[in-house]
This record gives sequence, structure tokens and C-alpha cells, in this order.
Amino acid sequence: MKITITNKKGVSVNPDMIGLFFEDINYGADGGLYAELLENRSFDFFPTMEYADISPLTAWSKVGEAEFTSETASPMNNINPQYVHIKGKAGEGIVNRAYEGIFCEKGKKYDFSVYVKGAAKLKVEIKTDAVSCASARFETEGNWKNYEVELESSETVYDAKLYITFAEDGECDIDMCSLFPRDTFMGRKNGLRADMAQALKNIKPGFVRFPGGCIVEGTVLENRYRWKDTIGKIEERKINWNRWQDGNVGVTAHDYFQSYGLGFYEYFLLCEDIGAQPLPVLNCGMACQYKTGECAPMDEIDEYIQDAIDLIEFANGDPKTNKWAAIRAQMGHEAPFNLVYLGIGNEQWEENYFERYEAFQKVIAPLYPNIKLITSSGPSASGKEFDKAYEWLRGKKCDFAYAVDEHYYVKSEWMFDNANRYDSYDRDGVKVFAGEYACHIGENQPKPNSLEAAVAEAAMMTGFERNADVVTLASYAPLFARENYTQWTPDMIFVNNHEIMLTPSYHVQAMFGNNLPDYTLLFEREEDSDVYISAGYSEKSGEYIMKVANRGGKKDVVLCLPEGVEAIEEITLTSESFADVNTMADKDKVSPKSLKRPVGGSCEINLTVPPISFNVYKLK
Ligand code: AHR
Repeated sequence: MKITITNKKGVSVNPDMIGLFFEDINYGADGGLYAELLENRSFDFFPTMEYADISPLTAWSKVGEAEFTSETASPMNNINPQYVHIKGKAGEGIVNRAYEGIFCEKGKKYDFSVYVKGAAKLKVEIKTDAVSCASARFETEGNWKNYEVELESSETVYDAKLYITFAEDGECDIDMCSLFPRDTFMGRKNGLRADMAQALKNIKPGFVRFPGGCIVEGTVLENRYRWKDTIGKIEERKINWNRWQDGNVGVTAHDYFQSYGLGFYEYFLLCEDIGAQPLPVLNCGMACQYKTGECAPMDEIDEYIQDAIDLIEFANGDPKTNKWAAIRAQMGHEAPFNLVYLGIGNEQWEENYFERYEAFQKVIAPLYPNIKLITSSGPSASGKEFDKAYEWLRGKKCDFAYAVDEHYYVKSEWMFDNANRYDSYDRDGVKVFAGEYACHIGENQPKPNSLEAAVAEAAMMTGFERNADVVTLASYAPLFARENYTQWTPDMIFVNNHEIMLTPSYHVQAMFGNNLPDYTLLFEREEDSDVYISAGYSEKSGEYIMKVANRGGKKDVVLCLPEGVEAIEEITLTSESFADVNTMADKDKVSPKSLKRPVGGSCEINLTVPPISFNVYKLK
């Protein structure tokens, strides 16, 4: 096969194009990226419309014969009013199970914090049934007060629990217990799990879309995501139940809540720390249309629009003149976060949505002309809802919506067949944000993150890149899944309490994110329906970059370039079988391999493209 890359410039590629979709699904936030080790740390779980039996004492149990009751009579604040009263003899108290135990490493420090009311002599200890890893004693007194204790582990264990017991017989009230590893990502307090955040950074993402997903919408409006509940002191963030308590694949998550310890401030910080643009998505006055589809009446929509205005000010405003910007500064970030992208509604469709989006757009566009608004085309990339959205958007320009969010969870055949999907899109209309996509193999759960899925996604993404004048942003979904706490598959990264596993789909995202050209180049190719190609040039690195997804057998390629190149780097993702997956036991079964070789100033290079593979060729 012959491929000839010309020096004819195609289109510019948005440097933000390859991004991340983060949602608190599969315990992606609490029990996942958020480094807090305790579950139900503030004793505020409550019965929800999914489960009437959820207890405020979830994840906690008593040690010995301690009396242990949930109270509300004298709370430390009225936002999360539940706390516990404990009474017991020396050695008795309470224990938190954490998320399948606590991973505790020898020589590492852990920060314990708790609010206590009453005079007591207490002991905090991280231990398994067999081993004590770290412990400390502290005395409390008087009214609600915060106590902080540094712990250093003398052992490495994977399934410890956190005990708070009486050092002497006593009683007291307890609230907001927290245990963090000292080594969070970038050493931030109230921070993120370092290995998970680093994996995100390694993709070199252009943006992070947060906080979802359906949790933006809520099952009903009452449990929609309200960003204002997620900022300020962590003990004053009103916890919410998670819409994914009802998993969509039959795996329920009875105790799934959102502590909001990872809230909007932390999301903005994460973006800054990994060099990505923030892309928050706000509720537009509609609950999940797969669930209740509850709509806020139009005469109450101002409250939702005001939330959007206040968010823009929280991110970008002047702390001297704006209340929300002042909160940002108080939280530690005087400088603006430079918010540019803003999603209005998640996965919404039809007239109720169009009406609400227009109300937002009418107010926000004139006030903030630099904010790029993103609208929705519904739950799938074809069909009635999708067609209606495009009918509504016909003739509209980027000042109406910068981009429209398309979602597709589809078979590999669909992705291969649709790799040219954007070739025929209107070049002058609203751009496309491929905001949620993933290849779903097979009918059963769990769906595998196989090499086949990854190569199909790569093929589709070559189409994004070739059509970068249309497709401006793209994010695979969902991002994280905690083993044994997963409601949705496939996902990009799997974790347990001590390790992470990168899927072949992750590697495809990283291969795109790390090798994005500044602009595409036109190329000529011989027809081969197994092969999907994009090509471009990076001014920064002075490299031609070609990407090739191959779903067939080995291909011998003669690659012709407009000028001689000295060296080539070939990065290849492949394996023996399309069905191959990575597992915790064999994490690198399907992982990219890189090979560099000199090519001596040649403008004609022979390549062997392996069967069933995705490849990046960098030519300097
Ligand atoms: O990514 C999982 C879910 O898929 C998202 O929450 C929702 O937007 C879509 O239906």
C-alpha cells in the first residue's frame, strides 16, 4: 500500500481537542480519584428514593459494646446535621470499613482529622485484624472542635480499617472523620489519588469535562448536581445521593453518595495541575430524561441561569467585586481559572431542552462573549432526537453554540463504518464535541475493553483529526471504574484501593493526546478498507505525524513525504488477538511499544503495519 503525505495544509487542530470526561460513576470520585480513605465520613448518608433503608451509620460499626447512635440535636452545622454519639469503656468505640479496606504503606504518612464535642481521651488507629499500622492518642474538650493527628504507618497492608476508640471509659459526639494519605497528587490538601491523577496527566488532555454525565441532571431535580454545594469548607458541603445508586447494567450501588469533597474548586485545580482546560457542564433545569425527565418550569429557570453566571464569576471573576470570585480567592486561588468552555445540560433532547438552552444562551452570550457554550444533541448519534437537534441547529452559528455534544456508545462495526462520518458535515455550522463515546463489544456485562474496541475507537478518532475543523473536542466515556463497585462498562481506567489498570482504550487516548499535530496535511492513499489514516504536522516538534488504525492483517506500506526526514519513531499498540484485554494481573498485555530508527534523510520510507493495531508514526 502506498501513502503519500503532501505539503498541502488541511485544517488546524484545536490543541484542546483530546480531553477527558469525568463523572462520579463507578465510584470514580468518592472511593476513586478523591483521596479520602473513609466512607460516609460525616455520618450523613440518608434514605433515598432508590433505597429507603440507607442508614446514617453506613460503613461504620461499633467496637466492643460501645453505644453508638445517630443524632441531630446539636450539630456542628445545619448543612449536614447528622453526627454520632458514642459511649464506651476503654478499647471500645467505632470502626470505618472504608472502601474494601484501607491501603496503608510502610513509612508513609496519613492525616487524620475529626470533629469532637465533649471531653474524652481517644485513640485513633489504622489496623487490620492482625496488624496495627499506626496509632495515636488525643484528648478532646468542650464544644465542637477539630482535632488533627499525623499517623505514620509501620506496615504495608491492603485491607486495614480505621478505629476510633476510647483510651479511657468515656462518651462524646463525633462528626466529619477524615483520613488522607499525605502523598496526594501534587501534595495538595484535600487532594486526589496520585496514581490516578498522574494517569490523567499522562494523556496530556486538552480539557476535562466535569462533573458528568447523568449526575449533572439527577434522577429528579432535587438530586441534580449543584456546584455551589461543592465549594467552601468540606464539612459545609451538603452531601447528595448519587444518581448511579441505580446502575444501568444491573449492578446497583446501594451506598453511593457524593461527599463533594472533590468539588468544583478541586476540579478546576485538577485542570490547572494537568494543563487542561476546564469544561464544566451545568444542569439546565432538566433531570435525567432516561429517568424522570422532570423539568423546572420556565418561570423558575432564572435560578439555573444565575448558577451559570455565578460559576463563570467563580472561575474568572474579580475577588474584589464578586462574591463567588471572593470565595475562590478564600479557598486559595486568587488568580482566575480562565474558564472558556461551558456545557448547558448534559444529555438532553427535544423541545423542553431547546427552550431552556435558548434561555441560557440569550443571557450568557451577550454578557460573556468569550465563553464557548456547548449544547446537546441527545443520547445517541442518530435517530429522532438527534435529527431534531440538528434541525434546530441548522443555520445557527458559533455565537449560538460553539459546539454540539454528540454521544455514542456503539459496536466496533459502527465505529469503523463511521470513521468518515464528519467528512460530510457542514463546515460553517456549530462544531462538534464528541463528548461521550466508547466502543461496546458484545451484549453482556461486563463489556470488555479489548484491543478490538481500542482499534475501533482509534479508527473513529482518525476521522476526528482529519475533520478537526468540525470536531473540536472529544472525550471517551466513562473514565474510571473501581473494581467491585462498577455500574457501567467499558471504562478507560480500572482501579482498586492500591493499583490502577490502564485499558487499551486508555492507550489510544494517550497516543492521540501526546501526538496531536497543529494542523492536518492532505494525503493520498491506495484504497484498503481495513486501514484508517490521519496525517498532520507539528510546528512545535518539527514532525510529520501519521496515525494508522488497522483492523486487518499485516500491511506493507510505502510512505512518501514532501521532504526527507532523518528519523522515525513508531509507536504501536497491538496484541495477538482482537479479544485481548489488560487485567490487574497482566496490566501490560496490550500496551504501546515504541521504536526509533534513523532513516537517513529519506522521503520514501517502508513501514510494516502490524495486524490488528493502532500506530503513531513520528517523522522528524
Ligand atoms: O457515561 C455514562 C453515561 O452515559 C453518562 O452519565 C450519560 O451522559 C450517558 O448516558
